[in-house]
Amino acid sequence: DFIGPHVFVLFGASGDLAKKKIYPTLWWLFRDKLLPKDTLFIGYARSDLTVPTLREKFEKFCKVRTDDPEQKAAFEEFIKRNSYIKGQYDTDEGYENVNTAIAQMEELYKTPVKRLFYLAVPQNVFQPVTKLIKKHCMATGDAWTRVVIEKPFGYDDVTSKALSDHLAGLFTEEQIYRIDHYLGKEMVQNLVILRFGNRFISPSWNRDHIAAVTISFKEDFGTQGRGGYFDNSGIIRDIMQNHLMQILTLVAMEKPATINAEDIRNEKVKVLKCIKPVELKDVVLGQYVGDPESKTEDGRTGYLDDAGVPKDSVTPTFATALLRVNNERWDGVPFFLRCGKAVNERKAEVRIQYKDVAGDIFDKGKLKRDELVIRVQPNEAVYMKLMTKKPGFGFDTEECELDLTYNSRYKDIRLPDAYERLICDVLSGFQYNFVRTDELEHAWRIFTPLLKKIENDRVKPIQYKFGSRGPEESDQLMRDAGYVFSGTYKWNPPHKL
Ligand code: BG6
Repeated sequence: DFIGPHVFVLFGASGDLAKKKIYPTLWWLFRDKLLPKDTLFIGYARSDLTVPTLREKFEKFCKVRTDDPEQKAAFEEFIKRNSYIKGQYDTDEGYENVNTAIAQMEELYKTPVKRLFYLAVPQNVFQPVTKLIKKHCMATGDAWTRVVIEKPFGYDDVTSKALSDHLAGLFTEEQIYRIDHYLGKEMVQNLVILRFGNRFISPSWNRDHIAAVTISFKEDFGTQGRGGYFDNSGIIRDIMQNHLMQILTLVAMEKPATINAEDIRNEKVKVLKCIKPVELKDVVLGQYVGDPESKTEDGRTGYLDDAGVPKDSVTPTFATALLRVNNERWDGVPFFLRCGKAVNERKAEVRIQYKDVAGDIFDKGKLKRDELVIRVQPNEAVYMKLMTKKPGFGFDTEECELDLTYNSRYKDIRLPDAYERLICDVLSGFQYNFVRTDELEHAWRIFTPLLKKIENDRVKPIQYKFGSRGPEESDQLMRDAGYVFSGTYKWNPPHKL
């Protein structure tokens, strides 16, 4: 599929996502020769920019090694392949110009160009941009057109469906790539191999053996001036409904017939169908307040102190939700989704807690539950917390771990960033790591009633201190539903990042 000329058109080229993520990612892929040989990049936005002024915006995020002449030269070559078109998002002219630029490329190469359109634009212009791409910029001949969009995909079930219907009226499902960048992370991708590639894991992956599943996302920083954007979404829309639900489906789905995108996505949808909408009684919401004793200014700043946030905002910055998967495999097993900003650490992980050993023959209370932990970030690892004999004389039990820490086991391997993988996937036409329309529909079905309730009733979140674990009520919710936290074990990463 990498044969022939390609064009990467980036709408929203002047924005934050473009400069911090997309341009740097394109450069890294270019530097590592992972892009099709003949790829040109067109930036598109409303601002008055040129390639040099655009470059000024993103270069510092590209981490170019200026002490390496070869890399410096490669960066100049990358810049040469860029052009910039100024245009409105909702009028024809700019799109005609984009098409003319691509047509010129086609003349030069004497063959149709494959066209990737990346929408790094606010969601209020998704509709006009896609409509005008369809009107003016579609590929000719046997070349493909692919459109990449990023969340937010609507605001609730109704607005998301309106967007999906709009897209379906313009493009086929094969042309639409909805990014959830968590699907581009190494350990999220590893879930399918761990689960379906290991004989010893699959027989225990069910309600007979598993007591609870916890999927957590924690960040040790606050909204940091992004409060204006965040206040319109809140942590449930920002993290839980998408990133954590995607992980949940990969943990809970049945074995797909093959690893083809459609087979996998069919299984993901099937498991989503077994989940009822989340109810407020199964949720704990939090909002951080500044910690006056913190050494950093950020730490002393509460969510409501963020300039963009209304002083009476009830938007949650922390949420734990209990979900149930109503099928034969998971009946009775609590799935906890937990996410928070401005908490004590930065971490994302999946924790599978096994049930107690039946018929304990050791000193009562000494056996602790086994846990399989898949640490998504930082410091990727898979480890199994288990009981072992305390080494030496005697016959004591001890909690220990079987540990696959990536930066000790795979020392010299650089893990590609999520966006690097996902852009390569789009270019290869590999849709497995992208969100299909029906997946999205179910994710909204599960969360919209809760979001509506929170917003209509202005449900007050519980305050928690910046840098804490979040509200104690979250731990209580998990304990009440069957998760056992013994507090006797701490995993020590052998290699710090
Ligand atoms: C984004 C959210 O989708 O994911 C951000 O909008 C969040 O609020 C980010 O910080 C986290 O991504 P990562 O890859 O840094 O874990």
